[in-house]
Amino acid sequence: MMKGHIRLGVNIDHIATVRNARGGVHPDPAEGARVAIESGADGVTAHLREDRRHITDDDMERLQHLCLETGMPLNMEMAATDEMLDIAKRLKPHAVCLVPERREERTTEGGLDVAGRHNQIMPIIRKLSDSGSRVSLFIEAEPGQIEAAARSGASVIEIHTGAYAHALDSADEEKAADILQAVQTGAAQGAALGLEIHAGHGLTFSNVADIAAIREVVELNIGHFLIGESIFSGLDEVIHKMRRLMNAARDMA
Ligand code: PXP
Repeated sequence: MMKGHIRLGVNIDHIATVRNARGGVHPDPAEGARVAIESGADGVTAHLREDRRHITDDDMERLQHLCLETGMPLNMEMAATDEMLDIAKRLKPHAVCLVPERREERTTEGGLDVAGRHNQIMPIIRKLSDSGSRVSLFIEAEPGQIEAAARSGASVIEIHTGAYAHALDSADEEKAADILQAVQTGAAQGAALGLEIHAGHGLTFSNVADIAAIREVVELNIGHFLIGESIFSGLDEVIHKMRRLMNAARDMA
């Protein structure tokens, strides 16, 4: 019996990266989102970056249209800026995840510095919530950041798993074990403070299990690996396999 369904949000940004390498319209991230939905994704995630290096404003409109049509939640990742706030208020995605884009917005490892930028981030969270989007903060599993997130008015944190993935890639088992423990502790701390816990960044077939097994984590957002691997075996097959691995890890936890 599976212990608590864990959702998979598929980030389709890098379909747009490939499209933009040539200009034109192919491959279309909205078509990728449609395939993801048909293949069992629980949501679609896209990051509208300030420099529009992959997803464009038009992509966001079409993704929101598709999500409304299919009843899928759209999770818009964005920097905490006035420009992005205006776009999100117009688009009204189901969810907004605030992420750092500039060096000074980040903590040492790379999550949003909610503790240091509390006064700037709080009003943006409030305006997004008033506009009907559920707000999540992409942060490191650091106690101070998690406490600040709980005080910020956001209802969700997405714990940054990039450093964990990187430690495993570098075969630094000890560091990976330490970071995994911090993610587990952070997830428990966040849940105890009433936050919904998501996780993501750098997740692959080979590192997803220990993260998916964390009972408090209810959603993973995965992009680069799924899109890259789909070159070899197709997006539907890759999503099905990721789902199976996530469910199996949860089941054994
Ligand atoms: N979560 C957040 C907040 C992100 O910014 C990203 C990358 O856009 C991801 C998850 C997905 O990371 P990856 O592409 O490495 O799977």
